[in-house]
Amino acid sequence: MADKSQKWVLTVTAQTPTNIAVIKYWGKRDETLILPVNDSISVTLDPNHLCTTTTVAVSPSFEKDRMWLNGKEISLSGGRYQNCLREIRSRASDVEDEEKGIKIVRKDWEKLHVHIASYNNFPTAAGLASSAAGFACLVFALGKLMNLKEDQGKLSAIARQGSGSACRSLFGGFVKWIMGNDENGSDSIAVQLVDEKHWDDLVIVIAVVSSRQKETSSTTGMRESVKTSLLLQHRAKEVVPKRILQMEEAIRNRDFPSFAQLTCADSNQFHAVCLDSSPPIFYMNDTSNRIISYVEKWNRSEETPQVAYTFDAGPNAVLIARNRKVAAALLQRLLFYFPPHEDTDLNSYVIGDKSILQDAGLKGMKDVEALPPPPEIKDNDPARKYKGDVSYFICTKPGRGPVLLSDKSQALLDPETGLPK
Ligand code: DP6
Repeated sequence: MADKSQKWVLTVTAQTPTNIAVIKYWGKRDETLILPVNDSISVTLDPNHLCTTTTVAVSPSFEKDRMWLNGKEISLSGGRYQNCLREIRSRASDVEDEEKGIKIVRKDWEKLHVHIASYNNFPTAAGLASSAAGFACLVFALGKLMNLKEDQGKLSAIARQGSGSACRSLFGGFVKWIMGNDENGSDSIAVQLVDEKHWDDLVIVIAVVSSRQKETSSTTGMRESVKTSLLLQHRAKEVVPKRILQMEEAIRNRDFPSFAQLTCADSNQFHAVCLDSSPPIFYMNDTSNRIISYVEKWNRSEETPQVAYTFDAGPNAVLIARNRKVAAALLQRLLFYFPPHEDTDLNSYVIGDKSILQDAGLKGMKDVEALPPPPEIKDNDPARKYKGDVSYFICTKPGRGPVLLSDKSQALLDPETGLPK
């Protein structure tokens, strides 16, 4: 192997999407290996709007493993990082780069240190699941750097040990995390149900809800639920297994009414489990509850559901519209109920796929102010407006899985020094 005096740096950069569960993972049967109490299903979100980019580097000159997240150095000493690094290293293969005259043999990886730099293209403060994309990207990028021969399913079992939901970010489209039975977790892996092209009519609008409250982390919350909620036991044993089958069928058939009914019911049951925990955990707030009521009212006023809602361990609403036309009508409604402050630039309030603003006929704040109340609001139902209760909206769609970025300008680590650019 190359000695410490050698200066070469080998890097890999990857981009990985985040995902949102439509059948939720909530509860572990093994905390260290991160093995869940039930299967879950998610949709991968378009990485153009929400993703993590990670560059990993190896060099004989690196003194220790180091990581930078959004430009700030963080510790890698946590068990989850250590588990992922150990699992990847133990599966590493020979790597040769003739151009640079580099040859790393399998056993060298035990001694070589890595540098990792990771960046989320969405505000960390938004409370959107960043650990899913983060761990998936770390495992995917290191897997490429160390030339792992494992397929994507096996890689997902490593990402799972970083954060449960991360295993589902190794695929695009709709993804199932199979809970598995093995004690060592080898069969607790993610599989792709359908790719992102299968149901590309869907449009996803995320309402990033303003919140001052510090939330209980998913890890802590689910630990409390496992310890104290009888509803969680019932959900894992009786409800989810049937729901998973129904959801798979709804996705296969692009059956939006069934999909919406299952998605909403599962989100509501997950939050019911949180309430059933002792002490109870409140992730949704008044704004979240209002969004549920508006969507329920609208869906009931139509012949068939138009929008599905789902909420993770926080107040943000993830709204899945059956197509672009519905998404435009949804955005009009949301902007009617939750108008931005007068001096807001509409383009910074709606991020992601901005053309949905045009579809909705909204060019600026004047158009927002002139929005009529949605027809499902009856005369005796005061059209209350909650200015500022939504910080902004992200418009996105189902997206693809992880990819390598070969364009060196997208790398986050300097190719000469292996330090953040
Ligand atoms: C509500 O994957 O963040 O988003 O495995 O402890 O890291 P850990 O938890 P995490 O939990 C996600 C919970 C959820 C539902 C879901 O994504 O399925």
